[in-house]
Amino acid sequence: TTVDLDHALAVATDLAIQAGEQLLTRARERITPSGAQLTIAQKLNAVDLVTEADEDAEKVIRNGLKKHFPDHAFVGEESYGQGMPNNEYIVGDEPTWVVDPLDGTVNYIHLFPTVCVSIGLCVGGVPVVGVIYAPFFGAAYPPDGSASAAPSGHLFTAIQGRGAFISSDGGKSRRALPLQSPAPPIPPNAPKGCTLAVEWGKDRRDVPGGNLERKVNSFWNLAGEIGGRNGKGGMVHGVRSLGSATLDLAFVATGAIDIFWEGGCWEWDVCAGICILVEAGGIVVDCNPPEGFDPSVSSTTPIPAAPLGGRRYLAIRPCSDSPESS
Ligand code: IPD
Repeated sequence: TTVDLDHALAVATDLAIQAGEQLLTRARERITPSGAQLTIAQKLNAVDLVTEADEDAEKVIRNGLKKHFPDHAFVGEESYGQGMPNNEYIVGDEPTWVVDPLDGTVNYIHLFPTVCVSIGLCVGGVPVVGVIYAPFFGAAYPPDGSASAAPSGHLFTAIQGRGAFISSDGGKSRRALPLQSPAPPIPPNAPKGCTLAVEWGKDRRDVPGGNLERKVNSFWNLAGEIGGRNGKGGMVHGVRSLGSATLDLAFVATGAIDIFWEGGCWEWDVCAGICILVEAGGIVVDCNPPEGFDPSVSSTTPIPAAPLGGRRYLAIRPCSDSPESS
Protein backbone atom coordinates (compact mmCIF):
# COMPACT_ATOMS: atom_id res chain seq x y z
CA THR A 1 0.00 0.00 0.00
CA THR A 2 1.32 3.44 -0.87
CA VAL A 3 0.52 6.09 1.70
CA ASP A 4 0.56 9.81 0.94
CA LEU A 5 2.75 10.85 3.87
CA ASP A 6 2.11 14.59 3.44
CA HIS A 7 -1.62 13.98 3.69
CA ALA A 8 -1.05 11.67 6.68
CA LEU A 9 1.00 14.37 8.43
CA ALA A 10 -1.61 17.07 7.75
CA VAL A 11 -4.48 14.95 9.11
CA ALA A 12 -2.48 13.80 12.16
CA THR A 13 -1.45 17.40 12.92
CA ASP A 14 -5.05 18.65 12.82
CA LEU A 15 -6.23 15.83 15.06
CA ALA A 16 -3.36 16.20 17.55
CA ILE A 17 -4.10 19.91 17.92
CA GLN A 18 -7.84 19.30 18.20
CA ALA A 19 -7.39 16.62 20.89
CA GLY A 20 -4.72 18.66 22.70
CA GLU A 21 -6.84 21.80 22.81
CA GLN A 22 -9.72 19.70 24.15
CA LEU A 23 -7.44 18.48 26.95
CA LEU A 24 -6.45 22.06 27.72
CA THR A 25 -10.06 23.25 27.81
CA ARG A 26 -10.91 20.44 30.21
CA ALA A 27 -8.00 21.37 32.46
CA ARG A 28 -9.25 24.98 32.49
CA GLU A 29 -12.73 23.83 33.48
CA ARG A 30 -11.28 21.93 36.43
CA ILE A 31 -9.80 25.01 38.05
CA THR A 32 -12.85 27.23 37.83
CA PRO A 33 -14.63 27.88 41.16
CA SER A 34 -17.33 25.32 40.32
CA GLY A 35 -14.48 22.87 39.46
CA ALA A 36 -15.53 20.23 36.90
CA GLN A 37 -14.45 16.80 38.14
CA LEU A 38 -12.21 14.42 36.23
CA THR A 39 -13.15 10.74 36.39
CA ILE A 40 -10.04 8.65 37.05
CA ALA A 41 -9.77 4.86 36.81
CA GLN A 42 -6.97 2.44 37.60
CA LYS A 43 -5.48 0.10 34.98
CA LEU A 44 -2.58 -2.26 35.88
CA ASN A 45 -1.95 -0.73 39.32
CA ALA A 46 -2.27 2.46 41.37
CA VAL A 47 0.21 4.38 39.19
CA ASP A 48 -1.23 3.23 35.87
CA LEU A 49 -4.25 5.48 35.41
CA VAL A 50 -6.74 6.52 32.75
CA THR A 51 -9.14 9.47 32.79
CA GLU A 52 -12.24 10.24 30.76
CA ALA A 53 -10.13 12.95 29.10
CA ASP A 54 -7.76 10.26 27.72
CA GLU A 55 -10.71 8.28 26.38
CA ASP A 56 -12.47 11.25 24.80
CA ALA A 57 -9.26 12.44 23.14
CA GLU A 58 -8.70 8.97 21.72
CA LYS A 59 -12.23 8.95 20.26
CA VAL A 60 -11.60 12.25 18.47
CA ILE A 61 -8.37 10.92 16.97
CA ARG A 62 -9.65 7.43 16.10
CA ASN A 63 -12.79 8.76 14.38
CA GLY A 64 -10.80 11.38 12.47
CA LEU A 65 -8.24 8.85 11.24
CA LYS A 66 -10.97 6.38 10.28
CA LYS A 67 -12.67 9.01 8.15
CA HIS A 68 -9.49 9.80 6.19
CA PHE A 69 -7.80 6.38 6.22
CA PRO A 70 -10.55 3.74 6.48
CA ASP A 71 -8.16 0.91 5.47
CA HIS A 72 -5.46 1.67 8.03
CA ALA A 73 -5.10 -0.23 11.30
CA PHE A 74 -5.33 1.64 14.61
CA VAL A 75 -3.61 0.95 17.93
CA GLY A 76 -4.52 3.39 20.71
CA GLU A 77 -3.51 3.24 24.34
CA GLU A 78 -7.04 3.43 25.69
CA SER A 79 -8.74 1.06 23.27
CA TYR A 80 -5.99 -1.55 23.36
CA GLY A 81 -6.63 -4.58 25.62
CA GLN A 82 -4.92 -4.76 28.98
CA GLY A 83 -2.69 -7.45 30.35
CA MET A 84 -0.92 -8.73 27.25
CA PRO A 85 2.45 -10.47 27.64
CA ASN A 86 5.36 -8.11 28.09
CA ASN A 87 7.13 -8.51 24.79
CA GLU A 88 4.28 -9.02 22.39
CA TYR A 89 4.56 -6.93 19.20
CA ILE A 90 1.30 -5.19 18.50
CA VAL A 91 2.09 -3.33 15.28
CA GLY A 92 1.95 -5.34 12.05
CA ASP A 93 3.28 -4.55 8.56
CA GLU A 94 0.15 -2.82 7.26
CA PRO A 95 -0.14 0.97 7.67
CA THR A 96 -0.95 1.38 11.37
CA TRP A 97 -1.68 4.49 13.39
CA VAL A 98 -0.17 4.24 16.86
CA VAL A 99 -1.73 6.76 19.22
CA ASP A 100 -1.35 7.93 22.78
CA PRO A 101 -4.18 10.45 23.17
CA LEU A 102 -2.69 11.75 26.44
CA ASP A 103 0.87 10.87 27.32
CA GLY A 104 1.55 11.96 30.85
CA THR A 105 -1.80 11.01 32.38
CA VAL A 106 -0.51 11.34 35.94
CA ASN A 107 0.83 14.82 35.09
CA TYR A 108 -2.54 15.78 33.65
CA ILE A 109 -4.34 14.68 36.79
CA HIS A 110 -1.99 16.89 38.86
CA LEU A 111 -2.00 19.76 36.33
CA PHE A 112 1.75 19.30 35.77
CA PRO A 113 2.26 20.67 32.27
CA THR A 114 4.40 18.03 30.54
CA VAL A 115 1.44 16.43 28.81
CA CYS A 116 1.02 15.69 25.12
CA VAL A 117 -0.90 13.98 22.34
CA SER A 118 1.20 11.52 20.32
CA ILE A 119 0.21 10.26 16.86
CA GLY A 120 2.54 8.04 14.86
CA LEU A 121 2.08 6.17 11.59
CA CYS A 122 3.99 2.93 10.98
CA VAL A 123 4.44 1.21 7.64
CA GLY A 124 6.20 -2.16 7.66
CA GLY A 125 6.49 -1.76 11.43
CA VAL A 126 8.64 1.39 11.05
CA PRO A 127 7.48 4.85 12.23
CA VAL A 128 7.24 7.04 9.09
CA VAL A 129 5.18 9.97 10.39
CA GLY A 130 5.28 11.46 13.87
CA VAL A 131 3.21 14.26 15.42
CA ILE A 132 3.41 15.37 19.05
CA TYR A 133 1.37 18.25 20.43
CA ALA A 134 1.98 19.58 23.95
CA PRO A 135 -0.93 21.97 24.61
CA PHE A 136 0.19 23.40 27.96
CA PHE A 137 3.36 24.93 26.58
CA GLY A 138 2.72 28.41 25.31
CA ALA A 139 -0.65 28.64 27.09
CA ALA A 140 -1.24 30.55 30.32
CA TYR A 141 -0.20 28.42 33.29
CA PRO A 142 -2.07 27.47 35.31
CA PRO A 143 -4.77 27.24 32.65
CA ASP A 144 -6.68 30.45 33.33
CA GLY A 145 -10.20 29.93 32.10
CA SER A 146 -9.79 32.12 29.00
CA ALA A 147 -9.72 30.10 25.81
CA SER A 148 -6.69 30.95 23.65
CA ALA A 149 -7.41 32.41 20.25
CA ALA A 150 -5.12 30.03 18.40
CA PRO A 151 -3.27 26.85 19.35
CA SER A 152 0.08 27.85 20.81
CA GLY A 153 1.38 24.57 22.25
CA HIS A 154 4.63 22.95 21.13
CA LEU A 155 4.06 20.99 17.94
CA PHE A 156 6.74 18.49 16.90
CA THR A 157 6.45 16.85 13.47
CA ALA A 158 8.42 14.58 11.16
CA ILE A 159 8.13 12.53 8.00
CA GLN A 160 10.68 9.76 7.39
CA GLY A 161 13.60 11.09 5.33
CA ARG A 162 12.41 14.71 5.43
CA GLY A 163 13.66 16.06 8.77
CA ALA A 164 11.97 17.02 12.04
CA PHE A 165 10.42 20.36 13.02
CA ILE A 166 9.01 22.30 15.96
CA SER A 167 6.31 24.98 15.78
CA SER A 168 4.44 27.09 18.31
CA ASP A 169 1.75 28.46 16.02
CA GLY A 170 0.02 25.30 14.93
CA GLY A 171 2.57 24.59 12.17
CA LYS A 172 2.33 27.90 10.28
CA SER A 173 5.98 28.68 10.95
CA ARG A 174 8.44 26.00 11.97
CA ARG A 175 12.10 25.43 12.87
CA ALA A 176 14.21 22.45 12.02
CA LEU A 177 15.40 20.22 14.87
CA PRO A 178 17.77 20.03 16.62
CA LEU A 179 17.59 23.64 17.75
CA GLN A 180 21.37 24.17 17.93
CA SER A 181 22.58 23.43 14.47
CA PRO A 182 25.17 22.01 14.08
CA ALA A 183 24.43 20.19 17.31
CA PRO A 184 27.32 20.31 19.81
CA PRO A 185 29.33 17.11 20.18
CA ILE A 186 28.50 14.84 23.12
CA PRO A 187 31.13 15.46 25.87
CA PRO A 188 33.96 12.93 25.47
CA ASN A 189 33.53 11.77 29.07
CA ALA A 190 29.72 11.46 28.80
CA PRO A 191 27.52 10.99 30.71
CA LYS A 192 29.49 13.65 32.66
CA GLY A 193 28.27 17.05 31.55
CA CYS A 194 25.01 15.66 30.15
CA THR A 195 21.36 16.08 31.02
CA LEU A 196 19.76 12.72 31.66
CA ALA A 197 16.03 12.01 31.57
CA VAL A 198 14.72 8.85 33.18
CA GLU A 199 11.27 7.29 33.20
CA TRP A 200 10.41 4.11 35.06
CA GLY A 201 7.33 2.89 33.19
CA LYS A 202 4.20 1.87 35.03
CA ASP A 203 4.41 -1.88 35.18
CA ARG A 204 5.50 -2.82 38.68
CA ARG A 205 5.24 -6.60 38.27
CA ASP A 206 8.98 -7.28 38.06
CA VAL A 207 10.09 -4.71 40.64
CA PRO A 208 11.61 -6.64 43.58
CA GLY A 209 10.15 -6.16 47.07
CA GLY A 210 12.27 -5.40 50.13
CA ASN A 211 11.98 -3.49 53.36
CA LEU A 212 11.63 0.26 53.40
CA GLU A 213 15.08 0.92 54.83
CA ARG A 214 16.73 -1.06 52.03
CA LYS A 215 14.68 0.77 49.45
CA VAL A 216 15.57 4.18 50.87
CA ASN A 217 19.26 3.24 51.01
CA SER A 218 19.33 2.01 47.46
CA PHE A 219 17.56 5.18 46.34
CA TRP A 220 20.22 7.33 48.04
CA ASN A 221 22.99 5.23 46.57
CA LEU A 222 21.57 5.71 43.12
CA ALA A 223 20.99 9.43 43.69
CA GLY A 224 24.57 9.79 44.99
CA GLU A 225 26.00 7.87 42.07
CA ILE A 226 24.17 9.93 39.48
CA GLY A 227 23.73 13.29 41.19
CA GLY A 228 26.98 13.51 43.17
CA ARG A 229 28.07 13.11 46.82
CA ASN A 230 30.81 14.07 49.30
CA GLY A 231 30.84 17.59 47.92
CA LYS A 232 31.50 16.39 44.38
CA GLY A 233 29.34 16.71 41.29
CA GLY A 234 27.88 13.50 39.96
CA MET A 235 27.77 11.58 36.76
CA VAL A 236 25.64 14.15 34.93
CA HIS A 237 24.74 17.86 34.97
CA GLY A 238 21.14 17.10 35.89
CA VAL A 239 18.54 14.35 36.05
CA ARG A 240 14.99 14.95 34.80
CA SER A 241 11.84 12.85 34.83
CA LEU A 242 9.14 14.59 32.82
CA GLY A 243 6.48 11.90 33.29
CA SER A 244 5.94 11.64 29.54
CA ALA A 245 8.18 9.34 27.54
CA THR A 246 6.93 11.02 24.37
CA LEU A 247 8.06 14.48 25.49
CA ASP A 248 11.37 13.10 26.74
CA LEU A 249 12.04 11.89 23.18
CA ALA A 250 10.88 15.22 21.75
CA PHE A 251 13.26 17.13 24.03
CA VAL A 252 16.11 14.78 23.10
CA ALA A 253 15.32 15.74 19.50
CA THR A 254 15.63 19.46 20.37
CA GLY A 255 19.01 18.76 22.02
CA ALA A 256 17.90 19.99 25.48
CA ILE A 257 18.10 16.47 26.91
CA ASP A 258 21.27 14.57 26.00
CA ILE A 259 20.35 11.07 27.13
CA PHE A 260 17.02 9.43 27.91
CA TRP A 261 16.43 6.05 29.48
CA GLU A 262 12.94 4.51 29.63
CA GLY A 263 12.34 1.48 31.79
CA GLY A 264 9.09 0.11 30.40
CA CYS A 265 6.74 1.80 27.98
CA TRP A 266 4.50 0.90 25.08
CA GLU A 267 4.40 1.45 21.34
CA TRP A 268 2.09 4.47 21.67
CA ASP A 269 4.52 6.18 24.07
CA VAL A 270 7.38 6.12 21.56
CA CYS A 271 6.12 5.71 17.97
CA ALA A 272 5.84 9.40 17.04
CA GLY A 273 8.82 10.29 19.23
CA ILE A 274 11.13 7.76 17.54
CA CYS A 275 10.21 9.14 14.10
CA ILE A 276 10.90 12.73 15.24
CA LEU A 277 14.13 11.95 17.08
CA VAL A 278 15.60 9.84 14.29
CA GLU A 279 14.72 12.54 11.74
CA ALA A 280 16.43 15.15 13.95
CA GLY A 281 19.59 13.00 13.79
CA GLY A 282 19.36 11.32 17.20
CA ILE A 283 19.64 7.65 18.07
CA VAL A 284 17.24 5.30 19.83
CA VAL A 285 18.29 1.79 20.77
CA ASP A 286 16.62 -1.19 22.36
CA CYS A 287 17.76 -1.26 25.96
CA ASN A 288 16.74 -4.81 26.80
CA PRO A 289 19.87 -6.83 27.44
CA PRO A 290 20.33 -9.38 24.62
CA GLU A 291 19.90 -13.06 25.55
CA GLY A 292 22.93 -14.25 27.55
CA PHE A 293 24.18 -10.67 28.13
CA ASP A 294 26.89 -10.50 30.81
CA PRO A 295 27.58 -6.92 31.96
CA SER A 296 31.00 -7.94 33.37
CA VAL A 297 32.30 -8.91 29.94
CA SER A 298 32.94 -6.09 27.47
CA SER A 299 31.42 -6.79 24.12
CA THR A 300 31.72 -5.49 20.58
CA THR A 301 28.29 -6.77 19.58
CA PRO A 302 26.49 -3.96 17.71
CA ILE A 303 23.65 -2.39 19.64
CA PRO A 304 20.30 -3.42 18.15
CA ALA A 305 18.20 -0.66 16.56
CA ALA A 306 15.08 0.15 18.54
CA PRO A 307 12.12 -1.85 17.38
CA LEU A 308 8.66 -0.75 18.42
CA GLY A 309 7.70 -3.00 21.29
CA GLY A 310 11.15 -2.95 22.88
CA ARG A 311 9.66 -1.60 26.14
CA ARG A 312 13.07 -0.32 27.37
CA TYR A 313 14.92 2.31 25.35
CA LEU A 314 18.02 4.43 25.41
CA ALA A 315 17.95 7.62 23.33
CA ILE A 316 20.84 9.97 22.54
CA ARG A 317 20.46 13.49 21.20
CA PRO A 318 21.67 14.57 17.76
CA CYS A 319 25.35 15.54 17.83
CA SER A 320 28.11 16.50 15.44
CA ASP A 321 30.76 13.85 14.82
CA SER A 322 33.78 15.96 15.67
CA PRO A 323 35.11 15.38 19.21
CA GLU A 324 34.76 18.27 21.66
CA SER A 325 37.99 20.24 21.89
CA SER A 326 38.03 20.95 25.63
C1 IPD B 1 3.46 6.81 30.52
C2 IPD B 1 4.45 7.94 30.55
C3 IPD B 1 5.61 7.60 31.47
C4 IPD B 1 6.32 6.33 31.04
C5 IPD B 1 5.32 5.20 30.97
C6 IPD B 1 4.14 5.55 30.08
P1 IPD B 1 0.88 7.48 29.98
O1 IPD B 1 2.41 7.06 29.60
O2 IPD B 1 4.97 8.17 29.27
O3 IPD B 1 6.55 8.62 31.46
O4 IPD B 1 7.34 6.00 31.93
O5 IPD B 1 6.00 4.06 30.46
O6 IPD B 1 3.22 4.50 30.08
O7 IPD B 1 0.30 6.32 30.70
O8 IPD B 1 0.97 8.70 30.82
O9 IPD B 1 0.22 7.70 28.68
